[in-house]
Amino acid sequence: MSANELGAIARSIVADHKGILAADESTGTIKKRFDSIGVESTEENRRAYRDLLFTTPGCEEHVGGVILFDETLRQSSADGTPFPELLAARGIVPGIKVDTGAKGLAGRPGETVTEGLDGLRERFAEYHELGARFAKWRAVITIGDGIPTQACIDANAHALGRYAALSQEAGIVPIVEPEVLMDADNTIETCYEVTARTLQALFGELDRQAVDLHGTLLKPNMVIAGKGCATQASSQRVAELTVDCFLRHVPAAVPGIVFLSGGQSEVQATENLNAINELGGPWPLSFSYGRALQGSALEAWSGDPANVEDAQQAFAHRSRMNALAAAGSWSSGLEAPVVA
Ligand code: 13P
Repeated sequence: MSANELGAIARSIVADHKGILAADESTGTIKKRFDSIGVESTEENRRAYRDLLFTTPGCEEHVGGVILFDETLRQSSADGTPFPELLAARGIVPGIKVDTGAKGLAGRPGETVTEGLDGLRERFAEYHELGARFAKWRAVITIGDGIPTQACIDANAHALGRYAALSQEAGIVPIVEPEVLMDADNTIETCYEVTARTLQALFGELDRQAVDLHGTLLKPNMVIAGKGCATQASSQRVAELTVDCFLRHVPAAVPGIVFLSGGQSEVQATENLNAINELGGPWPLSFSYGRALQGSALEAWSGDPANVEDAQQAFAHRSRMNALAAAGSWSSGLEAPVVA
């Protein structure tokens, strides 16, 4: 596959202010989500829930890609259509999470490095065969006393570079996700500084490992105060610092930046994305949300087939709100409740 083709796939995912649905919760993570609504995490319940999301009427107008977990890539809709085929037929690019999780970094208490490189070339070949055209690898950077260390940032950037190079070799667009967590009590200024260091290390590695930026999407955190910080910044301040940080550290060749929601509420994630787009930059600035696209839908569904339509309406609403935010055209007045 030529570099042009990878670039075309990447651009199509974020075309017309579309974003990405991150539905790639691992078996452990989806169990936590299902526990919160009192639903047992069986293979069939996981399939039924993803089926509901992927068959939501009209969602292809706002969602250009869906990230799947290995199990889901191999599952099918109720009518027997394999999920990757169903998504592609709707004009939604199927993607696959390929990392195997963040594991403790030896010698660096409190820090992790993401694993999954062994055998990845062969796994990519199979994922391409199954229909995946983009991939995701999530690195986790934790803010705390004396951390992150440069050792942790560099180890994660190196793994992201190796993953991205293998992905492009297989004809699959890599999403590189260096997530600086927002779970601590740090200020927004600390998040800015750590995000800047992380992006700098990442793009150094991508360059060294011959990754073509034109065929790569970036999935970062917003620059935002930690959840436990007494001073929470306004969405205007989040936008100013986020756009400033990215203008300084992300090359304009990147065809799209798709933010993760990281534990923000649904509306907060939309409001911040909208403020970011009011400022704008040389790249499409869109979303690749998990929790902030699915929270209301999951609750509306609650495992009952009778609620599928309500859940789909909730998901369609959040998708539409975020696509509007990706255009800088969202306002709080559009947030009228959709489920009676
Ligand atoms: P959240 O939007 O819930 O942070 O999930 C996005 C994601 O894919 C994290 O890897």
